[in-house]
Amino acid sequence: MSRILTGIQSSGRPHLGNILGAILPAINLSKEAGNESFLFIADLHSLTTLRDGDARREYVRAIAATWLAFGYDTVKNTIWRQSRVPEHTELAWYLNCFTPMPMLDNATSFKDKVEKLGKAAVNAGLFTYPVLQAADILLYDANLVPVGKDQRQHLEMTRDIASAVNHQYGEDVFVLPEARIDERIMTIPGIDGAKMSKSYNNYIDIFLPANELYKVVKKILSDSTPLDEPKNPDTDITFQLYALLATDEQVAQLRQRYEAGGYGYGHAKKELYELMVERFANERERFNELMAEGNPELERELRAGEEKARAVASATISRVRRVMGFS
Ligand code: ADP
Ligand code: TRP
Repeated sequence: MSRILTGIQSSGRPHLGNILGAILPAINLSKEAGNESFLFIADLHSLTTLRDGDARREYVRAIAATWLAFGYDTVKNTIWRQSRVPEHTELAWYLNCFTPMPMLDNATSFKDKVEKLGKAAVNAGLFTYPVLQAADILLYDANLVPVGKDQRQHLEMTRDIASAVNHQYGEDVFVLPEARIDERIMTIPGIDGAKMSKSYNNYIDIFLPANELYKVVKKILSDSTPLDEPKNPDTDITFQLYALLATDEQVAQLRQRYEAGGYGYGHAKKELYELMVERFANERERFNELMAEGNPELERELRAGEEKARAVASATISRVRRVMGFS
């Protein structure tokens, strides 16, 4: 049996790139026989870059609502807020004392931020970010951690820190986790053709009200081929996004229309918009239901998850306290 664990920073609402690149694959993995999945919202990590409390609350809810709307099974699996399980921060302190400074100095994600913003603009939370991440993982004896390529180094650091503790106190303190990086998952393009990302502000939020969603889709970049002329579907962003969501038959039909000419990008965008609304109709409805003010469901799910998470986390913390001499 594999215990799968992953965390999502609450630094924005999930977009189409997150959903196709991370959320759906993780839900599929959690459904495989024998797998048990632990999914938490890394709200403490988000404090390293986001200070607005109302925004954080909104993002935390939107992330939870997205996972539930896409069918994450909370009977079999667990979803919770990192900040509500204090064992995360307790373990992070213990691990800090086993983390060599040069390891953190060498973290690419930290070095990139310092390079971009200057040392005065980064905080100590960003510096020790990988240690809290190691605590998140080791607390649950996770075997498999599905993450994006950019997280490979953080997983190596987690294994190094865990090994240092195991070496000191015995090999059975922590399970050494493995990263699961799916190289096959393609990079979903944003409305400007670059990787869809909240940091490039080129993302599609599929939960927007229909008219706003259409407005975003209409902004997708296209070239200036006149309406009458044939168009190359393979270089067009609208077509690429359509192909990610449509059936083979639908894709073949749209390809024909592009190649025949007399079919404009505006038409294609309308098709894409309509496909999104249709394909995600159930998820959009469920998301809005869960996000509606006064609906206690989301909070209830997160609290139930907290209890399940704490049961596992407190057992690990007891083990750690015992070997380190705190109990
Ligand atoms: P963002 O770039 O919007 O800040 P994150 O870095 O928070 O997104 O990514 C969260 C997860 O979603 C990661 O697992 C990442 O690999 C996946 N992801 C993000 N953007 C894309 C994309 N454009 N295509 C495929 N997967 C993506
Ligand atoms: N650092 C991860 C990211 O930015 C989020 C994260 C925090 C995480 N703790 C984790 C991912 C533990 C996997 C396991 O995407």
